[in-house]
Amino acid sequence: MARFAIVTSEEIPKQMPAAFRALLPEHDFALYPDLGAADAIDYAVAWKPPPGVLVGLKNLKAIFSFAAGVESFLSDPHMPRAVPIVRAVSDVSRATMSGYAMAQILRYHHKLDHYQRQQAERVWKKTMPREPAETTVTILGTGVLGADLAGRLLPFGFPVVGWSRNPKNIAGIRNLHGPASFDEAMKAGNIVVCLLPLTPQTKAILDARAFALMPAGGFVINMGRGMHVVAADLIAALDSGHLAGATLDVTEPEPLPPADPLWRHPKITITPHIAGLMPPRRIMQNMADTVRHCLKSGKFEHTADLDRGY
Ligand SMILES: NC(=O)c1ccc[n+]([C@@H]2O[C@H](COP(=O)([O-])OP(=O)(O)OC[C@H]3O[C@@H](n4cnc5c(N)ncnc54)[C@H](OP(=O)(O)O)[C@@H]3O)[C@@H](O)[C@H]2O)c1
Repeated sequence: MARFAIVTSEEIPKQMPAAFRALLPEHDFALYPDLGAADAIDYAVAWKPPPGVLVGLKNLKAIFSFAAGVESFLSDPHMPRAVPIVRAVSDVSRATMSGYAMAQILRYHHKLDHYQRQQAERVWKKTMPREPAETTVTILGTGVLGADLAGRLLPFGFPVVGWSRNPKNIAGIRNLHGPASFDEAMKAGNIVVCLLPLTPQTKAILDARAFALMPAGGFVINMGRGMHVVAADLIAALDSGHLAGATLDVTEPEPLPPADPLWRHPKITITPHIAGLMPPRRIMQNMADTVRHCLKSGKFEHTADLDRGY
């Protein structure tokens, strides 16, 4: 039997330890701050941990994150550096995120916003479509999520360009990597989907210069983190007519304040960080599957690297 600590600074249901015990009856779960003997904790299940708490768990063997993005751990200067952080990755999370991206991409491709406006005017008028082959989708970040999206786009006939930090060889797409090929990736993308982690290198990566590189009439989908996009530059690129639209699932800050101009922009769709949202029951089931898999195999997969920053 291993002992788990559930550690977060967010409001979570008090019954979570009992729910985890029901999923993993062979293990014990305690909810921070009522952890009992800190040295007896083997693993943590965590998200946005209060700084300094995890380092106090001296015998921690691994941390299981509730989320795929792990910047809330990396920003803690006291994070125990030798303890692996397992990101929340599952078939369901991949399908959920890719489904959201596909919904936005197909909405743009089928001009659904245009037809919705026509419907309001009761106008029955066809606009000739572009073929998928004429619409390149650039995916910034071809990790777990970006690679999954690429695989789902190809059967539709969209050319896909992927951009990563290290060289990749994802079948069927144009694989680009590194800062030197960023411009090429942006120039190719009629649709640009951001699935990057937030790091010093990727912060504000989607700025006026990046938008200007995109072909006219382009569409931007940000599913990474709000700080990837310079909001004022996005608004300017939309107002000038260079970009046709944008969907932002993530903003800076979150929640987006009511007075923020992003809310009211007619070419921007805002969703409240729900691209990867799943019912709590599913998140816990995925977490339990990951824990069982890691403990059985003795291997921790999809781990974040503190030095790399994601
Ligand atoms: N909106 C939501 O609800 C939601 C939900 C889940 C995740 N997310 C966001 O999605 C992000 C990606 O998740 P993931 O699971 O796919 O992460 P991942 O597997 O770590 O993939 C990250 C990708 O970004 C690339 N990358 C990182 N830094 C780069 C740089 N400086 N230049 C070029 N490429 C860079 C990586 O390149 P390499 O392959 O070379 O390492 C990798 O391909 C998360 O970090 C989080 O911010 C959002």
